[in-house]
Amino acid sequence: MTSLDNFLFGIYPYICLSVFLLGSLLRFERDQYTWKSDSSQLLRKGQLRLGSNLFHAGVLFLFFGHTFGMLTPHFLYEHFISAGNKQLMAMLSGGLFGVLGFIGVTLLLHRRLFDERIRANSKASDIVLLVLLWLQLALGLATIPSSAQHLDGSMMMRLAGWAQHIMTFQAGAPELLAEAGLVFKMHMFLGMSIFLIFPFTRLVHVWSGFGTAAYLIRPYQLVRSRRVGMTASTPLSQRRGN
Ligand code: HEM
Repeated sequence: MTSLDNFLFGIYPYICLSVFLLGSLLRFERDQYTWKSDSSQLLRKGQLRLGSNLFHAGVLFLFFGHTFGMLTPHFLYEHFISAGNKQLMAMLSGGLFGVLGFIGVTLLLHRRLFDERIRANSKASDIVLLVLLWLQLALGLATIPSSAQHLDGSMMMRLAGWAQHIMTFQAGAPELLAEAGLVFKMHMFLGMSIFLIFPFTRLVHVWSGFGTAAYLIRPYQLVRSRRVGMTASTPLSQRRGN
C-alpha cells in the first residue's frame, strides 16, 4: 500500500462525502434559485428524449444497484445467493444498464457540444459533468472483463468490504484494495470525485428527484377560503359572488 493509496481510499472518501453533504446543504440554503436540473428542452428537443431517458434509466439502476450491492452486509444475503452468483448478477445487470446509460450520455454530450444554441447556453460545469459521467460509465463497463477473470466473487466482496468499512468508519479500508486492478481504482476515484463536485453542478436536482418520494406520505394540502361558509369545494362562481 502506497501513501497515495492510503490517501485516495482512506481519506479522500471522507473529504468527498463531507463536501457533498455540507456543500448541498449550503447551496440549498444560500442559492435556491440555482437549484434545478436546468433542462435544455426549450432550446432543442432533438436527442433529449431518447438520450435523457436512456441515461436516467441506466444511471438510476446503477445508483441503486451500487448502493444496495455494496452496502448490504454479506450475512444478510448469503443464505439466498452465493458471492459468485451475486457477482454474475451484478456484471450482467450492471453491464446492460451501463450500456443503456452510456448510449444516453453519449447522445446528451453530443447535442451539448455540437448544437450551437445548447453549447452557447451551457456553463463549463455542464460540459465537464457530462464528460465525467461519460468517462465513469466507460470505466464501469471496462471493469467487467477484469471481473470475469475471477468469478468466485472474492474481488467483489473486497470492494464491498471497502465501502462498508468507509461508511462505518472502520480502520483498514485501503488495505482491502491491495489486489484491486487499476481500472477498479480509477472507477472508484472518479465515482468519489463526482460526489465532490456534486453541489457545484446541476446534479443537485438528484436530491429533489428522490425528495419527491415524500409526496407518498405527505398530508393532504388544506385549502381554506377566507369567506365564512365557503370551502374548497364551493364552486368558483359562488365564491366570487356572481
Ligand atoms: C432522482 C431522480 C432523477 C430525476 C427525477 C431527474 C430529472 C432530471 C430532469 C427533469 C432533467 C432535465 C431534463 C433533461 O435535460 O433531461 C435532468 C437532467 C440531468 N440529469 Fe437527472 N434526474 C434524476 C437523477 C439523476 C441522476 C442519478 C443523475 C446522475 C448521477 C442525473 C444526471 C443528470 C444530468 C447530467 C442531466 C443533464 C443532461 C443534459 O446535459 O441535458 N440525474 N434530470
